[in-house]
Amino acid sequence: MILVINFGSQYIHIITRRVRELGVYSEIVSNDIKASEIKKLNPDGIIFSGGPASVYDKGSPQIDKNIFKLNIPILAVCYGLQLVGKQFGKVKPGIKEFGKKLLEIKKTGKILKGFSKKEQVWMSHGDVVTNLPKSFDLLASTDTCKTGAVENNKAKIYGVQFHPEVFHTTNGMKIYKNFLFDICKAKKDWRISNVKDDLIKEIKKEIKDESVIMGASGGVDSSVAAVLIHKAIKDNIYCVFIDHGFIRKNEAEEVRNSFKKSKFKHFYQIDASKIFLSKLKGILDPEEKRKIIGHTFIEVFERKVKDLERKFPKIKFLGQGTIYPDRIETAQPSKQADKIKSHHNVTLPEKMKLKVIEPLKEFYKDEVRELGLELKIPKEIVFRHPFPGPGLAIRILGEVTKERLEILRNADYIYIEELKKSGYYNKTWQAFAALIPLKTVGVMGDARTYEYIISLRAVTSKDAMTADWAKLPDELLEKISSRIINEVKGVNRVLYDISQKPPATIEYE
Ligand code: XMP
Repeated sequence: MILVINFGSQYIHIITRRVRELGVYSEIVSNDIKASEIKKLNPDGIIFSGGPASVYDKGSPQIDKNIFKLNIPILAVCYGLQLVGKQFGKVKPGIKEFGKKLLEIKKTGKILKGFSKKEQVWMSHGDVVTNLPKSFDLLASTDTCKTGAVENNKAKIYGVQFHPEVFHTTNGMKIYKNFLFDICKAKKDWRISNVKDDLIKEIKKEIKDESVIMGASGGVDSSVAAVLIHKAIKDNIYCVFIDHGFIRKNEAEEVRNSFKKSKFKHFYQIDASKIFLSKLKGILDPEEKRKIIGHTFIEVFERKVKDLERKFPKIKFLGQGTIYPDRIETAQPSKQADKIKSHHNVTLPEKMKLKVIEPLKEFYKDEVRELGLELKIPKEIVFRHPFPGPGLAIRILGEVTKERLEILRNADYIYIEELKKSGYYNKTWQAFAALIPLKTVGVMGDARTYEYIISLRAVTSKDAMTADWAKLPDELLEKISSRIINEVKGVNRVLYDISQKPPATIEYE
């Protein structure tokens, strides 16, 4: 196992994922971890992440100095290297570098094994390390940063000022391979499918003969979590699917069928569409819409839980499909961060006095998908595009009405059907139609039309943090546009959204 110590890097999850991709289990821990705790965890290696602070700043994240005495190999990245610099040498502030840089390699040492004389790397720092003792070999520099890469084999400390985990560092993966396998001698034995049986055993041990209630959305995470729990405790899981009326065409039926296929005995579908629609009447503001939907969802869910608790007193747990990135804060100064959207997810354990069970809390989306396949969950569920909690309500700009929902549902269905047929569904991270509630003039046959606009969005992304618009073929777009205009009553114009995130977001509201 490799421990990744978090100093607030925006790339923290990418580092952990890179290590896992190489077949070694890795976990993120906070920078206030004590050396004695690390000793107990007995990792093969430690990675210090980057971070936005400067090591001499008041309150900047520090590290227990005894970690350097554990004799466990350390790879220090960016801010991590500056902590090493502070400990053993000096750090000079105010030498900024940002973006792609050329790294000149004087000596590869162990950590840069396989690197050519010049390599492209990604820099993002404001300070540099100076005055390291002779025990540290200087391996590489850029024109502005002398200490680009260093190593001290005796102390087992390796440091790079650039970010090997980001894609712009062309040979970044080589650094992780060198560190994991040559330096740490880690074994390549991590695959999520290998831990499936252990996960099931752990769930069984935790729940014993009690029962679990769980909100099921039909999305990948909650479906995989529910199936795992079901395998562990059989019919003692109670799944509740709330149809808020903002789901896609045929979706309720698909979700019901998938749970039926997986042989769930207790599956409750609640049609709450009337309540949700009435609460949104006259509401135009996106944030207000999101909040109303979130609160209403909790109310409806809570009511059902109380009802089931009365009937089945053994319900003591709330199952959740939380995955790793949902859980670990990147330790960015979130209080100062601007709130873009209030995400709606069901997190209500405190009030409900249920114990929470989150079997996927250590895993990334791609690992959850692999586990889903291993559990024989249908591919349509496993490879489903993400779908936001508030559903179609945030894809109808402005007021949500029954008529608009119907139009959007039909347009979205055609779009997704054509993407699937052409193979583009699996090549995009997410695709959907949105309804722009403005009318434009058109002509159909010989008659004038005055109808709504549908905007098509398709993006490629790795994690939804940034996204690019998908370059769908013209013929495909043409086919989708003409099918929507011909088949969906109420639409006479189709647009294709070519905005990147940032500055746009993926969803419209
Ligand atoms: P944005 O629009 O912020 O979306 O670029 C990023 C990703 O998050 C999804 N999304 C949500 N997911 N509850 C969710 O579970 C929500 O309220 C929510 N809002 C947006 C969005 O679909 C995209 O994948």
